[in-house]
Amino acid sequence: MDREKLAGQIEKSTTWLARNLFFYEKTGSTNDDIKQMANEGASNGTLVVADRQTAGRGRRGRTWISPKGESVYMSLLLRPKCMPNQASALTLVMALAVAEAMEELAYGKSGIKWPNDIVMNGKKICGILTEMGLEQTTIDYVVIGVGINVNQSFFDEEIATTATSIALELGKKISRAELIGRILHYFEKEYAEFEKTYDLTSIVERYNQHLLNRDRQVRVLDPKGEYEGFALGVNSQGELMVKCQNDEIVHVYAGEVSVRGIYGYV
Ligand code: BTN
Repeated sequence: MDREKLAGQIEKSTTWLARNLFFYEKTGSTNDDIKQMANEGASNGTLVVADRQTAGRGRRGRTWISPKGESVYMSLLLRPKCMPNQASALTLVMALAVAEAMEELAYGKSGIKWPNDIVMNGKKICGILTEMGLEQTTIDYVVIGVGINVNQSFFDEEIATTATSIALELGKKISRAELIGRILHYFEKEYAEFEKTYDLTSIVERYNQHLLNRDRQVRVLDPKGEYEGFALGVNSQGELMVKCQNDEIVHVYAGEVSVRGIYGYV
């Protein structure tokens, strides 16, 4: 992948996103790059893509291992005119866009594990890290970082049971530039819907169609106490609705909480 090829794919897939495009052979973290650019006044829709990260970050302070030449590491800068608590739903908007791109490119069976992991054959191929910069109580910028295991053929032992790549699942390598183009195409479309109400009202049905946890027994890993229930789907705020044993329906907010299937990762 080089900048020219990437720019070509993006131009034919989007109308306004990522016209301000940066491609780095190597960087620390594309999320950190976007934060710095945002603070220096970079425009809505700026995109940073890297071929390798030396300090890739995951959710909850984890490291995102980012080897060279095989995967997608990208971060998108947005300046939405909404409240900070509404912007967290953008993670789910991006998850939907990745799932839609995967479906279009016929990359086999994939879906969303709430709130924002993309999973193929029960293992994770994509993670999303959304961060926000505030100016007093309003949003200055949102950065949505996306890491996708595209052509990797090896995973460290400690993550091999839960992580895979698109190539490993399909048995063939695929074009990262084309995948990025299609993800941005769907993100642009779904973001326009999000901007109408600043929640998921008009996309929640599509999100739920891709949701692998739906209609499944799940274990909610809440730091205040774990519990099990039946996942009904996501509401327009992006919360997972879980029916508990006593028939109470709990609306689970992503934040510090994650879910597992009771028999495995999904
Ligand atoms: C997760 O923990 O599931 C989220 C992983 C997000 C990784 C991506 S790679 C591009 C961007 N830059 C980072 O440092 N992190 C995100």
